[in-house]
Amino acid sequence: MKDLAGRVAFITGGGSGIGFGIAMCAVEAGMRVFIADVRADHLDDGLAKLRAAGAEAHGMLVDVADPAQVERAAEETIKVFGKVHLVCNNAGVSIFGPMDAATAGDWRWIMGVNLDGVINGIQSFVPRLKLHGEGGHIVNTASMAGLLVGPNMGLYCASKFAVVGLTLSLRYDLAPHGIGVSVLCPGFVRSNIHEAVLSRPKSLGATGYPVSDAEMKRLDGVLSVGMAPIEVGTHVIAGVRENRQYIFPHAEFRDELNAVHGELMAALPDREPEEARMAVEDFRRQRRAEAAKLIKNF
Ligand SMILES: NC(=O)c1ccc[n+]([C@@H]2O[C@H](COP(=O)([O-])OP(=O)(O)OC[C@H]3O[C@@H](n4cnc5c(N)ncnc54)[C@H](O)[C@@H]3O)[C@@H](O)[C@H]2O)c1
Repeated sequence: MKDLAGRVAFITGGGSGIGFGIAMCAVEAGMRVFIADVRADHLDDGLAKLRAAGAEAHGMLVDVADPAQVERAAEETIKVFGKVHLVCNNAGVSIFGPMDAATAGDWRWIMGVNLDGVINGIQSFVPRLKLHGEGGHIVNTASMAGLLVGPNMGLYCASKFAVVGLTLSLRYDLAPHGIGVSVLCPGFVRSNIHEAVLSRPKSLGATGYPVSDAEMKRLDGVLSVGMAPIEVGTHVIAGVRENRQYIFPHAEFRDELNAVHGELMAALPDREPEEARMAVEDFRRQRRAEAAKLIKNF
């Protein structure tokens, strides 16, 4: 989506960190913005800053894990602005530690926000993007942890790998409608994600991981080397304009991604492919190539 001026962006987790950075950059590009956040303080702070920057900005308290709340946010966005063109399913939370320590509540919280939140955004907003026929764009926030794994990252990686997979597939589904799709995979960003546990629902409160002020401070320290959210927002807006499949703001991952590519290739059996199976794979690849022809820089 090249022309952003006057168009409408909806951004979850838009009151803080990356979501707020995207909102500010969308405003700089001339967009009107609707931000959704589960924390009233983040929502108020984000809206105040956006309006101080001259934005036409609205917002709503929304828990993205709840499909009914996301649907109400979509209705409200249309009520306020008439249409929506850019949807950033960005809200997310994190928790780290060995997977066998996780409780059912840990899994439900992480998957509910990070994965269901993206799914709910797609369910409620894609029909509204298709309806006006002006095209649009969806950006789903995953993470480099949606492509690379490490110890103690199981729950977060599971949610983010899922976001990468569904987003890359959605790109084919929406191309015939002139709607672009990108997956945002940041590395470290200076945000408030170290405080994520503060918005965790009480009903999912039992956790197998350490939760304390000291732990939050430790995570904050790790994030202090992170990229500024505004810089991430700049990458996102450029990615939307060019309909990039992947939006990778961080250059630090070149060697690791290269190594993973090498590991994948090395895992393939060292022999010729089976002819009959290859014919089926060729057919699938051809269908994929045909679908890919529809993906343009809309
Ligand atoms: N900060 C990083 O280093 C980093 C790296 C890679 C990916 N990410 C991803 O970026 C996204 C944004 O995170 P951030 O780092 O900007 O953190 P952040 O905490 O600063 O911002 C996230 C916002 O989402 C809101 N939120 C949390 N749960 C919600 C829910 N259930 N419904 C609605 N809003 C909710 C929070 O209140 C907050 O305002 C997340 O998906 C995160 O996983 C962050």
